[in-house]
Amino acid sequence: MAERPKLVLAMRQDILDLVLPAPLRARLDTLADVHPLLVTDAATREAGDALATAEVLLTGWGAPEIDAGLLARAPRLGAVIHAAGTVKHHVHPVVWERGIAVSSAADANAGPVVDFTMATVVLAARRTLGAAADYRRGRLPSYPERRGADGAVVGVIGASRIGRGVIARLLAADAGFQVLLADPYVTAADAAALGVRLVDLDELCAASDIVTVHAPDLPETRHLLDARRLGLLRDGAAVINTARGRLVDTEALALACAAGRLDAYLDVTDPEPLPVEHVLHRLPNVLLTPHIAGCQGSEVQRLGAYAVAEVERFARHEALLGAVRAGDLARIA
Ligand SMILES: NC(=O)c1ccc[n+]([C@@H]2O[C@H](COP(=O)([O-])OP(=O)(O)OC[C@H]3O[C@@H](n4cnc5c(N)ncnc54)[C@H](O)[C@@H]3O)[C@@H](O)[C@H]2O)c1
Repeated sequence: MAERPKLVLAMRQDILDLVLPAPLRARLDTLADVHPLLVTDAATREAGDALATAEVLLTGWGAPEIDAGLLARAPRLGAVIHAAGTVKHHVHPVVWERGIAVSSAADANAGPVVDFTMATVVLAARRTLGAAADYRRGRLPSYPERRGADGAVVGVIGASRIGRGVIARLLAADAGFQVLLADPYVTAADAAALGVRLVDLDELCAASDIVTVHAPDLPETRHLLDARRLGLLRDGAAVINTARGRLVDTEALALACAAGRLDAYLDVTDPEPLPVEHVLHRLPNVLLTPHIAGCQGSEVQRLGAYAVAEVERFARHEALLGAVRAGDLARIA
């Protein structure tokens, strides 16, 4: 075993308790020399002492920003290993410029989102929300008006890690879903290898029974589903968004849902949280959830396990599995 790197933990205490339960913490202690201070504010004298010798920063939700100021206090830093998804909120470009490795546990966060999306696709295919609302009013759907999932066309926006996971699950499902993909970074050959047909976003909207959004929040993805594209969707189609609220024009979607034309399953909204008085909270054909598709509760330790495995790879001078490269930042979450 290589010499144990000096490691500083940087995240909120309540998050640390979820990310690194005792067995994982014990494993980390065998791999690294973990400083006793938990850093949330990098500007304190105690944090400066911890950072002075740190070779690895293991960050999580509530970590301080890793900018030139922090790096000046951490001259030996070789890796920032993030026990959560995107690193864009706290890792500044200067970290890559200094040649410091950056890793995220986005791979480990993807599985629960894929599961959540699949459950939602199945509910959406059956128009479950409308049936449930009718049932509350004592009305049972007649057999001819009941809808099943077989052969439903599902349009996936973004062959991201989550998008690809959803595609794999859709294709493996009994329902025989037909899957369309829109993604400017994917070639027709890539799409064929994934088992789906690559189409442009307008065609995807026009041809899908269910549209599920999995692209990152980037300047060019804001309102990817705007009023015009939502207008292309078939009557009775459903929009699923587990990505980011900004990708969908919330007000345009609310109008289409209020008119009963579209159903929506939204784990994310714009703004987020959505004010309680917003009409989307009251529509029977809309399911709003408070950004719970990613790792929650018992699942959060998946992020810690991923990060601890990254620390092990770092200590062995192996490539990091979740490496985030500066050149990819403009197209990733
Ligand atoms: N609801 C939650 O709890 C939760 C949890 C994790 C991630 N997310 C969100 O899910 C989404 C996917 O996350 P990920 O980690 O799989 O992303 P990712 O970083 O793997 O996505 C990058 C890929 O998205 C695709 N892409 C980029 N621009 C696109 C565009 N204009 N149109 C279509 N596709 C485009 C490209 O294939 C690119 O390689 C993100 O928006 C992320 O923020 C939500």
